[in-house]
Amino acid sequence: MTAITTTTLANKDIPAAITWLTTQFPGAVAFSTSFGQEDQVIADIIWKHQLPVRVFTLDTGRLFQETYDLIDLTRARYQQPIEIYFPETAAVETLLREKGVNSFYDSVENRKECCNIRKVVPLNRALQGVKVWITGLRAEQSENRHDMPLIEWDEHRQLYKYNPLINWTFDQMTDYLAQYRVPYNKLHDKGFISIGCAPCTRAIEPGEHPRAGRWWWELSQKECGLHA
Ligand code: ADX
Ligand code: SF4
Repeated sequence: MTAITTTTLANKDIPAAITWLTTQFPGAVAFSTSFGQEDQVIADIIWKHQLPVRVFTLDTGRLFQETYDLIDLTRARYQQPIEIYFPETAAVETLLREKGVNSFYDSVENRKECCNIRKVVPLNRALQGVKVWITGLRAEQSENRHDMPLIEWDEHRQLYKYNPLINWTFDQMTDYLAQYRVPYNKLHDKGFISIGCAPCTRAIEPGEHPRAGRWWWELSQKECGLHA
């Protein structure tokens, strides 16, 4: 098969693009949702059009109560299966025993170790056998997402990574959520934009970078390894 590129999908809207991808890779298309605003748009599209896509989330064990509430609200609204991946018990127990429960504040290295155990390893498990990974990445979110294409071959993971909202603006996304009354995280009404784990996310002030609230004590790249 010739490589799939942005051009391949250029004339297809999102439902048509996902439908086409699922015919190319039957049973091997999966969408990862963190229940952020982007993800709620994509989930709505997938379920509204009954697209044959696995939907999964990574429950790190440290999410906000508001995020857990939204998971249940979304399950109730759509009545669709959502796979929940949890970190490996033994790895978390060892981490907590050796470094305490909040080791991520101590160094970037410790933080990445926690993200690896709670997010990256479970992601790898969720992506086993997957040939197209759908994400809610948007170019506007950060500098290192600016140049991400609509779809690309991920050599490391050996799959296509498809980012249907990559060129969407913030307003396009919130307009969609309002138009279709899609449930969203209540933290968005309290100054939160990008939402990850509770101990590692804060609200942002007007004018601050949209990801300023993630790992706010760090000057690092502000990525957890999912999209490194
Ligand atoms: S992160 O790398 O900083 O954590 P971000 O929160 O911007 O990522 O989310 C970008 C995309 O990564 C989401 O749209 C989703 O596809 C995926 N993602 C991030 N966190 C999770 C999660 N906990 N569970 C599933 N997918 C996630
Ligand atoms: Fe751990 Fe924080 Fe990463 Fe969540 S965001 S996995 S709590 S370091």
